[in-house]
Amino acid sequence: MTTDPATTDQTTIDPAEILRERFSAAIATAFPEAADADPLVSPSRQAKLGDFQSNAAMPLAKRVGAKPRDVASRIVEHLDVADVAEPVTEASIAGPGFINVTLRPDALAAFVERLDAPELGIEPPATPDTVVVDLCGVNLAKQMHVGHLRSTVIGDTVARLFERLGYDVIRQSHVGDWGLPIAMVVQALIDHEDAGHSLDDIGLDDLNRIYKDAQATCKDERVALASVTKYGGHPKAEAELEGRIEHARDAAERARQRLVSLQSGDERSVAVWQRIYDVTMAACLATCARLNTDVTDEHSAGESTYRQDLHDVVTDLETRGIAEESDGALVVRVEGIAEPCLIRKKDGGYLYATTDLAAIKRRVQDMRADRVVYVVDARQSLHFRLAFGAAERAGYTTRPDGAHADLEHAAFGTVLGEDNKPLKTRSGENIKLADLLDEAVARAATTVAEKNPELPEGERARIAEAVGIAAIKYTDLSTERIKDYIFSWDRMLAFEGDTGPYLLNAVVRITSIFRKAGEQGVALDERAALVLAEPDERALALTLLKYPRIVRAAGEALEPHRVCNYLYELASAFSGFYERCPVLKGDDDAVRASRLRLCGLTKRVLCDGLETMGIPTLERM
Ligand code: ARG
Repeated sequence: MTTDPATTDQTTIDPAEILRERFSAAIATAFPEAADADPLVSPSRQAKLGDFQSNAAMPLAKRVGAKPRDVASRIVEHLDVADVAEPVTEASIAGPGFINVTLRPDALAAFVERLDAPELGIEPPATPDTVVVDLCGVNLAKQMHVGHLRSTVIGDTVARLFERLGYDVIRQSHVGDWGLPIAMVVQALIDHEDAGHSLDDIGLDDLNRIYKDAQATCKDERVALASVTKYGGHPKAEAELEGRIEHARDAAERARQRLVSLQSGDERSVAVWQRIYDVTMAACLATCARLNTDVTDEHSAGESTYRQDLHDVVTDLETRGIAEESDGALVVRVEGIAEPCLIRKKDGGYLYATTDLAAIKRRVQDMRADRVVYVVDARQSLHFRLAFGAAERAGYTTRPDGAHADLEHAAFGTVLGEDNKPLKTRSGENIKLADLLDEAVARAATTVAEKNPELPEGERARIAEAVGIAAIKYTDLSTERIKDYIFSWDRMLAFEGDTGPYLLNAVVRITSIFRKAGEQGVALDERAALVLAEPDERALALTLLKYPRIVRAAGEALEPHRVCNYLYELASAFSGFYERCPVLKGDDDAVRASRLRLCGLTKRVLCDGLETMGIPTLERM
């Protein structure tokens, strides 16, 4: 038996990992017939009993037909953990057969030492995968709304997690910048210009209005038609309706013609389209920057960038017999889904899915993605199942080197108002994301002013901006991605509880410990020996050690909330430690140095975790 902590695998930072291996080995020796059994090692539910527990004995007992406690005894008999843990004996077996393990203080310290390196236990892989992350995806002539908050914030965090894990990440914003709705806006602007107005100071709000009007006009056509057929009607009303239908038809027809001229590169149409593009993107990218997300012009790959590919994709699918005709339209049938994937309308127009097929081809075959992750609203899940299924059938998910790329829809839920319905303004409009951010910052400013009346105005504004944005982002990231959540100002802006401001404050508190230490002439010794004697020191150390595993799991599962939950857990563990383990007040130099080192490491892990969410930290608040 080994007893020297130095003999454990020097690269493993995660004690749970080592225990898992050791329990597996013990099970394999004790029960060769069940050597593949899961060792079921997890952090202990009761710190009093130990640091970790293995629950393997219970399922194993069923399998080998023995009593769970006897199975536990046999595992304990063969378990070799002396280099990392206190002796595991009969007395370590609890209840029906839980096996409790407590790490040796020197081993625990050695694990923390290893974590305390620049990369915090997250080493880049030797051959990194390429991951394409589809995020943001705003639409031209439309303001960003809360839905795009989610695709931007969650998308950017997923991308950051992958970057943190050392993968090659390519962000792609699939901007809705093509098709009939945009052609309508182009047409409306051309009419506006022809009426003698300049387009120079058209803003996104104007475009948004024009967009809605244009849509309403076309809807008019359908609504009016429907009611006439349904009710017949008074000759006068009928005449009026017919007039409106006429107008709507005319508008729709002109938009269709405009789309044709736009598609054929007509100079004026393209120039007006470009204007719409520039106005929309300037506003949207400014919001992305304010959210501290890495979504810039270089990541924009709008639907328009695929326009030359659509014809080829459709021809390819048609000639290879993958697409088939259905009621004059062209569709690809996907196994297990009743409705087909529509790729060409009866009138010859291409669709959202056609563009997504072209995008998959580019991402897999040109960008050579190993994995393409779509951070898009859950309400588009059928669309993606169809598009992925069609791409699979077409072989578009196979890279030039023959490798297969995984396509995943990282679907997210809806942001709800207090009334449990999708968040809207009082009058039922979508809430402009920019307004939402302004309000978050304004509310944060009030709290910051209350807490720090002495700070200069400029600094208070800077803090309020950081706190407000952190509150919004953290709320969006900390609920399980797929779930809906209710938007609540009070909850998200609270300085206590599982919030962005609380975590920022945790960092600020640690910073102020170091400020005080400096005033007392005490400096951080990054190599100080770690003394982990108190339960709160141990708890903090054990929590710190979870970090690399959490980041890996969050990345793999595309679930940023796991990082949030963890950071909250870490901040809480730190709180307990700070309350009961005086850092600067004690008079034992070794203990003080050790505790300061724990403070420093905690701060680095908190900052690193917040960085994976693009939440900048503050020095004071
Ligand atoms: N523009 C779309 C929307 O606002 C989102 C684009 C999602 N990405 C994609 N590849 N379809 O709904």
